[in-house]
Amino acid sequence: MAYSPNTPPIPEPIRIAVIGCGWIGAFHARSLAGHLPGVRLEAVADPAPGAAAALAAELGIAKHTTDPADLFADPDVDGVLIAAPSAFHATLIAQAAAAGKHVFSEKPAGLDLVELEGALDAVDRAGVEFQIGFNRRFAADFAEAKNRINAGDIGSVQLMRSLTRDPGTAAGIGHAERIKPNTIFLETLIHDFDTLNWFNEGARVTEVRAMADALVEPSFKGGGLLDTAVVTLRYDNGAIAVAEASFSALYGYDVRGEVFGSAGMATAGNPVQLATGTFTAAGAQAPTERLNIELFAGAYRSELAHFAQLIAARNGHAEAPAVPTPGAQAARDALEIALACVESVRTGEAVRLVRETAGGAL
Ligand SMILES: NC(=O)c1ccc[n+]([C@@H]2O[C@H](COP(=O)([O-])OP(=O)(O)OC[C@H]3O[C@@H](n4cnc5c(N)ncnc54)[C@H](O)[C@@H]3O)[C@@H](O)[C@H]2O)c1
Repeated sequence: MAYSPNTPPIPEPIRIAVIGCGWIGAFHARSLAGHLPGVRLEAVADPAPGAAAALAAELGIAKHTTDPADLFADPDVDGVLIAAPSAFHATLIAQAAAAGKHVFSEKPAGLDLVELEGALDAVDRAGVEFQIGFNRRFAADFAEAKNRINAGDIGSVQLMRSLTRDPGTAAGIGHAERIKPNTIFLETLIHDFDTLNWFNEGARVTEVRAMADALVEPSFKGGGLLDTAVVTLRYDNGAIAVAEASFSALYGYDVRGEVFGSAGMATAGNPVQLATGTFTAAGAQAPTERLNIELFAGAYRSELAHFAQLIAARNGHAEAPAVPTPGAQAARDALEIALACVESVRTGEAVRLVRETAGGAL
């Protein structure tokens, strides 16, 4: 898969600090340090002893700390990238915004709507830029599907599908004991909910039904681990969507989307990313990508280039990005659906999302 090209180089370096130097934070830090013109990785923070120091040493940067407050107080930091565990996102967003830093937050921006709104209020009050890490929007095939929908090629949207299958191991899910309850909705399918909302832009979800189980690791179900889920969504423009996820696809990392409408269909995503295949008497074989940072490598970099361009545009050093930013409303809408899924699994019932409109509740 090819990905959308990076935005044009920015004349003044945009100085970004990374908070949380784990799996995705370290990957983002490496992108900021080495792959994005006009961007500088200014500092890294992580409370785990040695984590930020080790990443700073690897990337050759001087500033590392165990306390994110040091980054908020640093006048040389223009924006922060929050890649701490999700439970800390809302607080860190609010603190960063209050310090006048532009904010890129990994998803979800909060774990409930109250803390999310608190964080987004802080962003509003500070008037800083806010972007959430819905990286699929920056993958070239997903972006092209969106362009085709916007151009009217698909007609009116009727059915949509989105799926995420995380790579498993032969033994099941790696570190299953560390996965928090409802992660499948709040951290995994939240990407699918955003993708569906984005494909069906302007429409709002009115009804959510979710079914989930621990089919990969049944012994972890007692601890709240759900590793397999299907969600159906009804939108107020009539469209019906299905999102599904599994935490153990043995063939690799698999993310796909599909929009079917009155005039045709658009698809995006293919677990087979390499052009090389083999064709033998046994049939055809093709390698698959194993990790999110492989499948979406370019998309992750493009979303960071977008964030840097937002800041550069604020400083008058660049044009505003050509595509809209996944920001506060996208963060809210996707989290609301994820939380409705949690409720639907708990009760076994569909959840109706009440919308306030000019004419009253919908
Ligand atoms: N967009 C994506 O595709 C994607 C992919 C992976 C993870 N994520 C999100 O990124 C976040 C991190 O996930 P991960 O897999 O990298 O987790 P991880 O556990 O590998 O890393 C988290 C890091 O944050 C540090 N940390 C803990 N408390 C902190 C705090 N209060 N402040 C700063 N740092 C703190 C930890 O020491 C650890 O190094 C999660 O919210 C997850 O949902 C997004």
